[in-house]
Amino acid sequence: MHNIAIFASGTGSNARKIIEYFKTSPDARVALVVSNKKDAGVLDIAKEHGIPTRIISRSMFYETEEVLEILRDKNIDLIVLAGFLWLIPEYLVSSYRRRMVNIHPALLPRHGGKGMYGMHVHEAVKAAGDSETGITIHFVNEHYDEGDFVFQKRCAVDPADTPTDIARKVLALEHRYFPEVIARLVTSLPSTTPA
Ligand code: GRF
Repeated sequence: MHNIAIFASGTGSNARKIIEYFKTSPDARVALVVSNKKDAGVLDIAKEHGIPTRIISRSMFYETEEVLEILRDKNIDLIVLAGFLWLIPEYLVSSYRRRMVNIHPALLPRHGGKGMYGMHVHEAVKAAGDSETGITIHFVNEHYDEGDFVFQKRCAVDPADTPTDIARKVLALEHRYFPEVIARLVTSLPSTTPA
């Protein structure tokens, strides 16, 4: 059995899909939800499912390695960033290299980098007049949105689409594919935890 930690700071709709997907999996379970916002919707979702949660502060995340101890304590094999906006510090990237993935709501390398999150991304797609957008799931390195790609999926952007329309299409792709891609990744990891 592999243990997944989800890092999220928002409403947590992706986290919900992932938690529900793995409820019946023999291979992996979501064992921890980490957030930097104490009122994040994702925390309610975790509690609903009986999943432990931890709130982290900026100083704890960047000035200590306490997060690593929390992850080790729960035998976390894979970290999933699902709407987590803080840059991941070096100690965490190196401990979870190729065992930490992020989802970005566009076709990287387009529309990525610092400040490109949420509606900013979809507004940029619209402003650029792109005829397609999509999702990118990638390994996390020391830079925003730059790690190796694991998976991309495209969808069409109609000229009449508003940024809100684009956001809706992209979120549907995230919900459809993110849990499956995580499941594939998890089965390729060496098991570090007893079943
Ligand atoms: C998603 O659009 C994801 O691509 C981005 O943050 C958003 C999180 O949404 N990284 P939710 O909190 O899962 O609804």
